[in-house]
Amino acid sequence: MLTVVEHPLIKHKLSLMRDERTGVKEFRELAGELSLLLAYEAMRDLETVPVQFSTPVQSGEFPMLSGKKLALVAILRAGLVMTEAITDLIPAAKVGHIGMYRDPETLQPVAYYSKLPEDIGSRRVFLTDPMLATGGSAVAAIDKLKEMGAERITLMCILAAPEGIAVIRQAHPDVEIVTAAVDECLNDHGYIVPGLGDAGDRIYGTK
Ligand code: PRP
Ligand code: URA
Repeated sequence: MLTVVEHPLIKHKLSLMRDERTGVKEFRELAGELSLLLAYEAMRDLETVPVQFSTPVQSGEFPMLSGKKLALVAILRAGLVMTEAITDLIPAAKVGHIGMYRDPETLQPVAYYSKLPEDIGSRRVFLTDPMLATGGSAVAAIDKLKEMGAERITLMCILAAPEGIAVIRQAHPDVEIVTAAVDECLNDHGYIVPGLGDAGDRIYGTK
């Protein structure tokens, strides 16, 4: 399933991220803010159960989160800024990291690190990466999560290319994708068009 989260705040913040004049500090802050707005939608169907307690005024039953525990998994580097923002919202979630970079020549993902919660198989997983371009990095990360037993996975990204969405649908049709926008296409270097450039470099100021 693909969900494009439509909201004027999201559109505005994403346009600021796209703007090449936006500096590192603002770009990183915007990525965090957008992640919270996306999380609100991505987690819309989390289960709640009624719990009995008293407010200062009256006792009653009030909804609290229940069901499967959550894991947030960042594809390094750029996904880190997303999980860091979302842990402010859900401090009890466990956090995993998958290190992956895209070879600039072949555009194939190169894995260099993985540390995931041991009980990830029993958790609902929200995988974060701002950019879904060819889809190679996300597919490799999802392969890894499934090897570890993860069953319900939502991929949260800020920008997706139609090519990347098609690749995920083909390789992992059960994975839900939540994104702020779907752009036009990829260019010859595998960059999303119009896009926002290299997310990792813009978040960390490495170029
Ligand atoms: C970027 C991005 C994704 C990947 C998307 O990471 O954050 O992980 O590219 O491209 P794909 O869908 O074609 O695989 P990058 O490889 O630049 O690594 P970095 O975050 O360490 O800079
Ligand atoms: N990775 C990025 O950071 N940006 C793109 O446009 C494509 C892949």
